[in-house]
Amino acid sequence: MFNSKIVAFSKYVPEKIVTNNDLSEIVDTSDEWIFSRTGIKERRVSTSENTSEVCAKAAEASIIKAGVSPDEIELIITATMTPDYSSPSTACIIQKLIGAKKAVSFDLSAACSGFVFALCAADKFIKTGAFKNALVIGGEVTSKVIDWSDRGTCVLFGDGAGACVIKQGKGGGIIAEDLHSDGERFDSLTSLYTPVNNPYHKEGGEGFNRLTMDGREIFNFATRKVPESIAAVLQKANISSEDIKYIVPHQANSRIVEIISRKMKIPMDKFFMNMDRYGNTSAASIPIALAELSDMGLIKEKDKLIITGFGGGLTWGSAIIEL
Ligand code: UT7
Repeated sequence: MFNSKIVAFSKYVPEKIVTNNDLSEIVDTSDEWIFSRTGIKERRVSTSENTSEVCAKAAEASIIKAGVSPDEIELIITATMTPDYSSPSTACIIQKLIGAKKAVSFDLSAACSGFVFALCAADKFIKTGAFKNALVIGGEVTSKVIDWSDRGTCVLFGDGAGACVIKQGKGGGIIAEDLHSDGERFDSLTSLYTPVNNPYHKEGGEGFNRLTMDGREIFNFATRKVPESIAAVLQKANISSEDIKYIVPHQANSRIVEIISRKMKIPMDKFFMNMDRYGNTSAASIPIALAELSDMGLIKEKDKLIITGFGGGLTWGSAIIEL
């Protein structure tokens, strides 16, 4: 068995910054409400690029950092809930955009937990020897599915992408994982519903692509399940939170992170947060945060990190990565 060593993290976010004050001109909200309830100050919004394009920019930066050429990439997994098309996969379009001609490419749908799920899936292909390397991307243009008239959701989300390259290696890699789904509560967060509509059946009603969310339900679920999941990976790896350099949670809401920190008695400075600048970028939030930690020189070889995601599905999960 091989290990999957993560060799490069990168991110790309669209240029346009939309502040809380900007949003207060669109819906009945305020900087005070948004910041005090979520920790978000501003987010990036795409003014032209679709999901494949933001992902391709993060991916290109990541393969350059990793020192691999595009045609050496063997596998691309893209986690997104805002694909350009339902077919082809966003990963296939990224493959074309970056020239990774030989890569097997597909998307993985697990909403805001998508990057954790995708990294763990890629890890299995590497560990079994099926592929020698993989490009794992989390990317979203949530702005195209947001209901811009719903103040309960439009203030939360942002656009962007993060990517990493993993390679067969010895030692380190993903040393523990804990992944879950609960389809019983699938309707807590939805977007892009396509009804059955053909000459033999009319389901009635229109399809929709707008995102709907029961924020309170997700808040309660996250503060219950994420601590359990972090505890589970620590136990599986047989280490304590003191052995962890940073915990990188899905960047949905700083209050969720504060509750997790309190419940687990893990100090807040161990949790990396950047939702103030990017909002909730769904599957992109964890890889964007990892890229920032790396760019800021805050992590180094041998450091152990916990990544932990939660969101629509419902889905949630954590992994311990040794760099
Ligand atoms: O990444 C996917 C996973 N999603 C999440 O993690 C989201 C988790 N949930 C949350 O982060 C929080 O539940 C929210 C930030 C979405 C909402 O915060 P909350 O403290 O749960 O507020 P609420 O929904 O209970 O709403 C409280 C009040 C309501 O007014 P009334 O009924 O008390 O008069 C809302 O209408 O706040 C109102 N409200 C707003 N007011 C100003 C809701 N959105 C806004 C807004 N600006 N943007």
